[in-house]
Amino acid sequence: MMKEIDWSKLGFHYTEPDYIVRAGYHNGQWEEPYATKDKFLHLHVSATCLQYGQEAFEGLKAFRGVDGKIRIFRWRENAKRMQRSAEGLYIEPVPTELFGKAIRLALEKNMDFLPPYGTGATLYFRPLLIGTTPRLGVGPGRDFEFIVIPSPIGPYYPGKFHCTHFIVNRHVDRAAPFGTGQFKVGGNYASSFRATEAAHAMGYDCLFLDSKYHRYIDECSAANFIGIKGNEYLTPRSSAILPSITNDSLMTLAKERGMKVTRRHIRLEELADMSEAAACGTACVISPIDQVFDPEKNITYSFGHEPGPVLTELYHTLRDIQFGRAEDRHQWTDVFEI
Ligand code: PLP
Ligand code: COI
Repeated sequence: MMKEIDWSKLGFHYTEPDYIVRAGYHNGQWEEPYATKDKFLHLHVSATCLQYGQEAFEGLKAFRGVDGKIRIFRWRENAKRMQRSAEGLYIEPVPTELFGKAIRLALEKNMDFLPPYGTGATLYFRPLLIGTTPRLGVGPGRDFEFIVIPSPIGPYYPGKFHCTHFIVNRHVDRAAPFGTGQFKVGGNYASSFRATEAAHAMGYDCLFLDSKYHRYIDECSAANFIGIKGNEYLTPRSSAILPSITNDSLMTLAKERGMKVTRRHIRLEELADMSEAAACGTACVISPIDQVFDPEKNITYSFGHEPGPVLTELYHTLRDIQFGRAEDRHQWTDVFEI
């Protein structure tokens, strides 16, 4: 029986699914993933995830397509990124096959939570990997828990594709160069809350600059930055930002439409030469930016109040692939017929 969910009212918020999926790592071995209705963990108070932040997570989506088929977008890339995050925090990496099995099980067990085609909503999966060994001495644990938490989420733009504005931050660094910024670990998000909440209080999202010089664009809140300059797609090269799977896909699509794609240090002032700018990530795909305000210099960089033509086209091209409306030439989606 279909759940009574008003798909049009879902935002990027947690809706309790029927099942989560879990697999523990003990005595050097992963157990088979299993589904459970219990959303609580019996976790030791001295677990390394609580004491020393041994935690990594991921985010990916399943889409009900125009043809009724279910597509999961580039999940192997999420599995690989979680393996890199795990290595970065001395956590046992989850093998790709186990990651895939757990996502599939989470989907099969929560079919009532997969939003129908046409609502713009999707089923989001939040894989989580935590250290569970009790420890007081500083050091990594030997036991881990891999969990997949599904939740239906609403269309990022319920009305129409629209713009957001950002404020430049020079007072809080999100992550150090060659630190954990390149990994998807909880600590990066907690360390950015002070800056992002201050920005929200002023009606903005937060644009982080590189932590060493405070000169180059790093991350847009929890998303990568994209700028369009003439026929060029520009995105930052930085050892402190998360390699976004959405950005990687958009770079491929930009090259296919004949654009030059450049990944390099981008000085903040270069915003003045860009015709379009956006944040990108799984949740929004592309979130166009209309303004970036630099409060220290009292400069506002403006890109117009409507999303620009290049980013609009890239947004629709990627969404069409995800919802099965366009050919998936790169085999980015795995099709499930459940
Ligand atoms: N940067 C940060 C800090 C993020 O949390 C995310 C979201 O996952 C991204 C960038 C975008 O990455 P992706 O496109 O793989 O979702
Ligand atoms: C994204 O998925 O685009 C993000 O920004 C990740 C965030 C929700 C943690």
